[in-house]
Amino acid sequence: MNQSIFQEAMRTVNERRVRAQAENERRFREVNEKLPQIAEINHQLAQTATKFFEVVKSGRDVEGRIEELRRQNEQAQEMSSRILTENGYPADYLDVRYTCEKCQDTGYFEGRYCECLQRAIASAGIARMNENAQLRLSTFEQFSLDYYRLPRTSEDKDTYETMQRVYHSCRKYADSFTVHSPSILFYGRTGVGKTHLSLAIADRVLAQGYDVIYDSIINLLSRVEREHFGREESELDTLSLLLGTDLLILDDLGTEWNTPFYVATIYNIVNTRINKGLPTIINTNLDLLDLRSRYEERIVSRLFAVYETMNIVGPDIRLLKKKQNGPAL
Ligand SMILES: Nc1ncnc2c1ncn2[C@@H]1O[C@H](COP(=O)(O)OP(=O)(O)OP(=O)(O)O)[C@@H](O)[C@H]1O
Ligand SMILES: [Mg+2]
Ligand SMILES: [Zn+2]
Repeated sequence: MNQSIFQEAMRTVNERRVRAQAENERRFREVNEKLPQIAEINHQLAQTATKFFEVVKSGRDVEGRIEELRRQNEQAQEMSSRILTENGYPADYLDVRYTCEKCQDTGYFEGRYCECLQRAIASAGIARMNENAQLRLSTFEQFSLDYYRLPRTSEDKDTYETMQRVYHSCRKYADSFTVHSPSILFYGRTGVGKTHLSLAIADRVLAQGYDVIYDSIINLLSRVEREHFGREESELDTLSLLLGTDLLILDDLGTEWNTPFYVATIYNIVNTRINKGLPTIINTNLDLLDLRSRYEERIVSRLFAVYETMNIVGPDIRLLKKKQNGPAL
Protein backbone atom coordinates (compact mmCIF):
# COMPACT_ATOMS: atom_id res chain seq x y z
CA MET A 1 0.00 0.00 0.00
CA ASN A 2 1.18 3.47 -0.79
CA GLN A 3 2.60 4.93 2.41
CA SER A 4 1.35 8.41 1.71
CA ILE A 5 -2.20 7.21 1.15
CA PHE A 6 -2.06 5.31 4.42
CA GLN A 7 -0.64 8.34 6.17
CA GLU A 8 -3.30 10.57 4.69
CA ALA A 9 -6.04 8.22 5.93
CA MET A 10 -4.43 7.98 9.36
CA ARG A 11 -4.26 11.76 9.49
CA THR A 12 -7.97 11.97 8.69
CA VAL A 13 -8.82 9.58 11.51
CA ASN A 14 -6.49 11.37 13.95
CA GLU A 15 -8.02 14.72 13.08
CA ARG A 16 -11.45 13.31 13.88
CA ARG A 17 -10.21 12.20 17.30
CA VAL A 18 -8.53 15.51 18.08
CA ARG A 19 -11.65 17.39 16.98
CA ALA A 20 -13.94 15.15 19.05
CA GLN A 21 -11.79 15.63 22.13
CA ALA A 22 -11.45 19.37 21.67
CA GLU A 23 -15.22 19.65 21.29
CA ASN A 24 -15.64 17.57 24.44
CA GLU A 25 -13.32 19.87 26.40
CA ARG A 26 -15.20 22.88 25.14
CA ARG A 27 -18.46 21.38 26.39
CA PHE A 28 -16.91 20.67 29.78
CA ARG A 29 -15.80 24.27 30.13
CA GLU A 30 -19.20 25.53 29.02
CA VAL A 31 -21.08 23.30 31.47
CA ASN A 32 -18.66 23.86 34.37
CA GLU A 33 -19.19 27.56 34.01
CA LYS A 34 -22.96 27.42 33.81
CA LEU A 35 -23.63 24.64 36.30
CA PRO A 36 -21.28 24.71 39.29
CA GLN A 37 -22.93 21.55 40.76
CA ILE A 38 -21.70 19.65 37.74
CA ALA A 39 -18.25 21.18 38.01
CA GLU A 40 -18.01 19.62 41.47
CA ILE A 41 -19.14 16.20 40.21
CA ASN A 42 -16.77 16.34 37.28
CA HIS A 43 -13.98 17.13 39.68
CA GLN A 44 -14.84 14.04 41.76
CA LEU A 45 -15.06 11.88 38.65
CA ALA A 46 -11.68 13.07 37.48
CA GLN A 47 -10.19 11.90 40.76
CA THR A 48 -11.64 8.42 40.50
CA ALA A 49 -8.82 7.17 38.31
CA THR A 50 -6.26 8.21 40.91
CA LYS A 51 -8.30 6.55 43.65
CA PHE A 52 -8.55 3.31 41.69
CA PHE A 53 -4.81 3.31 41.32
CA GLU A 54 -4.24 3.94 45.02
CA VAL A 55 -6.59 1.12 46.01
CA VAL A 56 -4.84 -1.32 43.72
CA LYS A 57 -1.43 -0.23 44.97
CA SER A 58 -2.40 -0.58 48.64
CA GLY A 59 -3.41 -4.19 48.05
CA ARG A 60 -5.93 -4.12 50.94
CA ASP A 61 -9.53 -5.21 50.36
CA VAL A 62 -9.07 -4.34 46.72
CA GLU A 63 -12.23 -5.92 45.34
CA GLY A 64 -14.58 -4.43 47.90
CA ARG A 65 -13.16 -0.94 47.68
CA ILE A 66 -13.08 -0.98 43.86
CA GLU A 67 -16.71 -2.03 43.89
CA GLU A 68 -17.50 0.86 46.24
CA LEU A 69 -15.65 3.33 43.98
CA ARG A 70 -17.47 1.99 40.94
CA ARG A 71 -20.80 2.50 42.66
CA GLN A 72 -19.94 6.07 43.64
CA ASN A 73 -18.78 6.70 40.11
CA GLU A 74 -22.06 5.48 38.66
CA GLN A 75 -24.07 7.61 41.06
CA ALA A 76 -22.02 10.65 40.15
CA GLN A 77 -22.58 9.97 36.43
CA GLU A 78 -26.29 9.60 36.97
CA MET A 79 -26.46 12.79 38.98
CA SER A 80 -24.51 14.60 36.30
CA SER A 81 -26.89 13.36 33.56
CA ARG A 82 -29.88 14.39 35.66
CA ILE A 83 -28.59 17.89 36.27
CA LEU A 84 -27.80 18.19 32.56
CA THR A 85 -31.31 17.21 31.45
CA GLU A 86 -32.88 19.41 34.13
CA ASN A 87 -31.02 22.31 32.58
CA GLY A 88 -32.04 21.56 29.03
CA TYR A 89 -28.95 19.64 27.90
CA PRO A 90 -29.00 16.12 26.44
CA ALA A 91 -28.01 13.54 29.10
CA ASP A 92 -24.94 12.51 27.11
CA TYR A 93 -23.82 16.07 26.45
CA LEU A 94 -20.47 15.45 28.13
CA ASP A 95 -19.67 12.17 26.35
CA VAL A 96 -16.99 12.36 23.67
CA ARG A 97 -18.63 12.25 20.24
CA TYR A 98 -16.34 10.08 18.17
CA THR A 99 -17.04 9.63 14.46
CA CYS A 100 -16.35 5.93 14.99
CA GLU A 101 -17.47 4.69 18.39
CA LYS A 102 -15.90 1.33 17.74
CA CYS A 103 -12.27 2.46 17.73
CA GLN A 104 -12.85 5.89 19.27
CA ASP A 105 -11.19 7.39 16.20
CA THR A 106 -7.88 5.65 16.82
CA GLY A 107 -8.07 3.64 13.58
CA TYR A 108 -7.37 0.37 15.39
CA PHE A 109 -9.82 -2.10 16.86
CA GLU A 110 -8.80 -5.33 18.57
CA GLY A 111 -5.32 -5.05 17.14
CA ARG A 112 -6.43 -4.60 13.53
CA TYR A 113 -7.23 -1.73 11.21
CA CYS A 114 -10.73 -0.54 12.07
CA GLU A 115 -13.33 -0.38 9.27
CA CYS A 116 -13.32 3.43 9.51
CA LEU A 117 -9.59 3.48 8.74
CA GLN A 118 -10.12 1.10 5.83
CA ARG A 119 -12.82 3.40 4.48
CA ALA A 120 -10.52 6.40 4.91
CA ILE A 121 -7.78 4.54 3.00
CA ALA A 122 -10.20 3.77 0.16
CA SER A 123 -11.39 7.39 0.02
CA ALA A 124 -7.84 8.71 -0.04
CA GLY A 125 -7.02 6.27 -2.84
CA ILE A 126 -10.09 7.31 -4.79
CA ALA A 127 -9.31 10.99 -4.35
CA ARG A 128 -5.82 10.27 -5.70
CA MET A 129 -7.26 8.51 -8.75
CA ASN A 130 -9.73 11.26 -9.54
CA GLU A 131 -7.11 13.99 -9.28
CA ASN A 132 -6.62 14.09 -13.02
CA ALA A 133 -10.25 13.96 -14.01
CA GLN A 134 -11.92 17.03 -15.47
CA LEU A 135 -14.73 16.70 -12.95
CA ARG A 136 -15.27 20.37 -12.23
CA LEU A 137 -15.37 21.30 -15.91
CA SER A 138 -18.14 18.95 -16.95
CA THR A 139 -21.30 19.59 -14.96
CA PHE A 140 -24.98 19.56 -15.83
CA GLU A 141 -24.95 23.35 -15.64
CA GLN A 142 -22.30 23.47 -18.33
CA PHE A 143 -24.17 21.04 -20.52
CA SER A 144 -26.16 22.86 -23.19
CA LEU A 145 -28.89 21.28 -25.26
CA ASP A 146 -28.46 24.00 -27.89
CA TYR A 147 -25.68 22.05 -29.57
CA TYR A 148 -28.14 19.34 -30.49
CA ARG A 149 -30.17 21.79 -32.57
CA LEU A 150 -27.15 22.19 -34.85
CA PRO A 151 -26.55 21.65 -37.67
CA ARG A 152 -29.97 22.26 -39.17
CA THR A 153 -30.74 19.06 -40.93
CA SER A 154 -33.88 16.95 -41.15
CA GLU A 155 -32.67 14.86 -38.21
CA ASP A 156 -32.52 17.95 -35.98
CA LYS A 157 -35.76 17.50 -34.20
CA ASP A 158 -35.15 13.88 -33.31
CA THR A 159 -31.64 14.59 -32.10
CA TYR A 160 -32.78 17.42 -29.90
CA GLU A 161 -35.65 15.48 -28.39
CA THR A 162 -33.52 12.41 -27.82
CA MET A 163 -30.85 14.43 -26.06
CA GLN A 164 -33.40 16.32 -24.02
CA ARG A 165 -34.67 12.97 -22.75
CA VAL A 166 -31.15 11.71 -22.14
CA TYR A 167 -30.21 14.86 -20.27
CA HIS A 168 -33.23 14.70 -17.99
CA SER A 169 -32.87 11.04 -17.25
CA CYS A 170 -29.18 11.57 -16.41
CA ARG A 171 -30.04 14.37 -13.99
CA LYS A 172 -32.68 12.23 -12.39
CA TYR A 173 -30.25 9.33 -12.17
CA ALA A 174 -27.65 11.54 -10.48
CA ASP A 175 -30.04 13.16 -8.04
CA SER A 176 -31.67 9.93 -6.95
CA PHE A 177 -28.45 7.91 -6.94
CA THR A 178 -28.06 5.03 -4.52
CA VAL A 179 -25.67 2.09 -4.51
CA HIS A 180 -28.54 0.09 -6.00
CA SER A 181 -28.98 2.38 -9.02
CA PRO A 182 -28.88 0.69 -12.41
CA SER A 183 -25.76 0.53 -14.60
CA ILE A 184 -25.62 2.56 -17.82
CA LEU A 185 -23.91 2.05 -21.14
CA PHE A 186 -23.50 5.33 -23.06
CA TYR A 187 -22.65 4.73 -26.69
CA GLY A 188 -22.27 7.13 -29.55
CA ARG A 189 -19.84 8.81 -31.90
CA THR A 190 -16.94 10.95 -30.84
CA GLY A 191 -17.52 14.39 -29.28
CA VAL A 192 -21.25 14.03 -28.63
CA GLY A 193 -21.07 14.42 -24.85
CA LYS A 194 -20.67 10.93 -23.33
CA THR A 195 -17.77 11.87 -21.10
CA HIS A 196 -19.37 15.18 -20.19
CA LEU A 197 -22.63 13.54 -19.11
CA SER A 198 -20.94 10.83 -17.08
CA LEU A 199 -18.72 13.39 -15.32
CA ALA A 200 -21.80 15.51 -14.60
CA ILE A 201 -23.35 12.47 -12.94
CA ALA A 202 -20.10 11.84 -11.02
CA ASP A 203 -20.07 15.43 -9.81
CA ARG A 204 -23.57 15.17 -8.31
CA VAL A 205 -23.04 11.71 -6.88
CA LEU A 206 -19.77 12.79 -5.21
CA ALA A 207 -21.58 15.79 -3.74
CA GLN A 208 -23.97 13.38 -2.04
CA GLY A 209 -21.05 11.74 -0.29
CA TYR A 210 -20.69 8.59 -2.38
CA ASP A 211 -17.37 7.28 -3.61
CA VAL A 212 -16.93 7.55 -7.36
CA ILE A 213 -14.04 6.39 -9.48
CA TYR A 214 -13.77 7.86 -12.94
CA ASP A 215 -11.03 7.17 -15.47
CA SER A 216 -10.43 5.91 -18.98
CA ILE A 217 -10.37 2.16 -19.25
CA ILE A 218 -6.83 2.35 -20.62
CA ASN A 219 -5.52 4.09 -17.51
CA LEU A 220 -7.39 1.84 -15.13
CA LEU A 221 -6.43 -1.42 -16.81
CA SER A 222 -2.78 -0.50 -17.14
CA ARG A 223 -2.72 0.43 -13.46
CA VAL A 224 -4.30 -2.89 -12.51
CA GLU A 225 -1.82 -4.65 -14.76
CA ARG A 226 1.21 -2.90 -13.25
CA GLU A 227 0.05 -3.80 -9.77
CA HIS A 228 -0.67 -7.38 -10.78
CA PHE A 229 2.64 -8.07 -12.48
CA GLY A 230 4.78 -5.48 -10.71
CA ARG A 231 7.60 -6.63 -8.50
CA GLU A 232 7.58 -3.81 -6.04
CA GLU A 233 5.06 -3.61 -3.24
CA SER A 234 1.85 -2.51 -4.91
CA GLU A 235 0.93 1.15 -4.41
CA LEU A 236 -2.83 0.97 -4.29
CA ASP A 237 -5.07 -2.00 -4.64
CA THR A 238 -6.76 -0.49 -7.68
CA LEU A 239 -8.66 -3.62 -8.63
CA SER A 240 -10.36 -3.94 -5.26
CA LEU A 241 -11.22 -0.22 -5.31
CA LEU A 242 -12.77 -0.69 -8.77
CA LEU A 243 -14.74 -3.71 -7.60
CA GLY A 244 -16.07 -2.01 -4.49
CA THR A 245 -16.54 1.71 -5.20
CA ASP A 246 -20.12 3.02 -5.02
CA LEU A 247 -20.06 4.21 -8.62
CA LEU A 248 -17.46 3.21 -11.20
CA ILE A 249 -17.22 5.09 -14.50
CA LEU A 250 -15.20 3.38 -17.20
CA ASP A 251 -14.58 5.77 -20.05
CA ASP A 252 -13.66 4.83 -23.64
CA LEU A 253 -14.35 1.11 -23.60
CA GLY A 254 -12.95 -0.34 -26.82
CA THR A 255 -9.77 1.75 -26.91
CA GLU A 256 -7.79 -0.73 -24.80
CA TRP A 257 -5.56 -3.48 -26.20
CA ASN A 258 -7.27 -6.77 -26.72
CA THR A 259 -5.03 -8.82 -24.40
CA PRO A 260 -6.15 -11.85 -22.39
CA PHE A 261 -5.35 -10.06 -19.13
CA TYR A 262 -7.44 -7.03 -20.08
CA VAL A 263 -10.37 -9.10 -21.29
CA ALA A 264 -10.29 -11.16 -18.11
CA THR A 265 -10.11 -8.01 -15.98
CA ILE A 266 -13.01 -6.32 -17.79
CA TYR A 267 -15.07 -9.45 -17.31
CA ASN A 268 -14.10 -9.59 -13.64
CA ILE A 269 -15.09 -5.94 -13.08
CA VAL A 270 -18.38 -6.14 -14.97
CA ASN A 271 -19.37 -9.46 -13.46
CA THR A 272 -18.32 -8.77 -9.86
CA ARG A 273 -20.09 -5.42 -9.76
CA ILE A 274 -23.26 -6.95 -11.19
CA ASN A 275 -23.12 -9.66 -8.54
CA LYS A 276 -22.67 -7.07 -5.82
CA GLY A 277 -25.53 -5.04 -7.30
CA LEU A 278 -23.25 -1.99 -7.63
CA PRO A 279 -23.80 0.51 -10.47
CA THR A 280 -21.27 1.05 -13.25
CA ILE A 281 -21.31 3.55 -16.10
CA ILE A 282 -19.48 2.60 -19.28
CA ASN A 283 -18.83 4.93 -22.23
CA THR A 284 -17.94 3.68 -25.66
CA ASN A 285 -17.57 4.78 -29.26
CA LEU A 286 -18.53 1.34 -30.40
CA ASP A 287 -22.10 0.66 -31.42
CA LEU A 288 -23.94 -2.39 -30.20
CA LEU A 289 -22.88 -4.49 -33.19
CA ASP A 290 -19.22 -3.52 -32.76
CA LEU A 291 -19.43 -4.44 -29.10
CA ARG A 292 -20.81 -7.83 -29.97
CA SER A 293 -18.02 -8.60 -32.38
CA ARG A 294 -15.25 -7.18 -30.22
CA TYR A 295 -16.05 -8.72 -26.81
CA GLU A 296 -16.69 -12.26 -25.78
CA GLU A 297 -20.24 -13.42 -25.27
CA ARG A 298 -20.01 -13.60 -21.46
CA ILE A 299 -19.16 -9.85 -21.31
CA VAL A 300 -21.58 -8.64 -24.02
CA SER A 301 -24.50 -10.65 -22.72
CA ARG A 302 -24.06 -9.14 -19.27
CA LEU A 303 -23.82 -5.61 -20.65
CA PHE A 304 -26.95 -6.00 -22.76
CA ALA A 305 -28.98 -7.82 -20.15
CA VAL A 306 -28.16 -5.68 -17.14
CA TYR A 307 -27.08 -2.22 -18.34
CA GLU A 308 -29.46 0.48 -19.52
CA THR A 309 -28.15 1.40 -22.95
CA MET A 310 -28.32 5.07 -23.93
CA ASN A 311 -27.50 6.19 -27.41
CA ILE A 312 -25.90 9.63 -27.37
CA VAL A 313 -26.47 11.43 -30.66
CA GLY A 314 -25.61 14.80 -32.12
CA PRO A 315 -22.78 16.68 -33.78
CA ASP A 316 -19.14 16.49 -32.71
CA ILE A 317 -19.33 19.19 -30.05
CA ARG A 318 -15.60 19.04 -29.43
CA LEU A 319 -15.16 20.13 -33.02
CA LEU A 320 -17.91 22.76 -32.84
CA LYS A 321 -16.40 24.31 -29.73
CA LYS A 322 -12.97 24.32 -31.28
CA LYS A 323 -14.30 26.20 -34.29
CA GLN A 324 -16.23 28.62 -32.12
CA ASN A 325 -13.74 29.54 -29.46
CA GLY A 326 -10.47 27.72 -29.67
CA PRO A 327 -9.66 24.21 -28.51
CA ALA A 328 -12.05 22.36 -26.20
CA LEU A 329 -10.99 19.37 -24.12
N1 LIG B 1 -24.09 19.38 -24.49
C1 LIG B 1 -22.90 19.93 -24.26
N2 LIG B 1 -22.82 21.20 -23.83
C2 LIG B 1 -21.63 21.77 -23.63
N3 LIG B 1 -20.45 21.18 -23.84
C3 LIG B 1 -20.46 19.91 -24.30
C4 LIG B 1 -21.68 19.22 -24.51
N4 LIG B 1 -21.39 17.98 -24.95
C5 LIG B 1 -20.06 17.89 -24.99
N5 LIG B 1 -19.49 19.06 -24.62
C6 LIG B 1 -18.07 19.36 -24.58
O1 LIG B 1 -17.52 18.90 -25.80
C7 LIG B 1 -16.31 18.22 -25.61
C8 LIG B 1 -16.46 16.77 -26.05
O2 LIG B 1 -17.46 16.11 -25.29
P1 LIG B 1 -17.20 14.69 -24.62
O3 LIG B 1 -15.79 14.61 -24.17
O4 LIG B 1 -18.24 14.47 -23.59
O5 LIG B 1 -17.44 13.75 -25.86
P2 LIG B 1 -17.45 12.15 -25.92
O6 LIG B 1 -18.78 11.73 -26.40
O7 LIG B 1 -16.98 11.62 -24.65
O8 LIG B 1 -16.38 11.91 -27.07
P3 LIG B 1 -15.34 10.69 -27.24
O9 LIG B 1 -16.11 9.54 -27.77
O10 LIG B 1 -14.36 11.22 -28.24
O11 LIG B 1 -14.74 10.43 -25.93
C9 LIG B 1 -16.02 18.36 -24.14
O12 LIG B 1 -15.21 19.51 -23.96
C10 LIG B 1 -17.36 18.59 -23.51
O13 LIG B 1 -17.28 19.34 -22.32
MG1 LIG C 1 -15.25 10.70 -24.04
ZN1 LIG D 1 -13.05 3.03 13.72
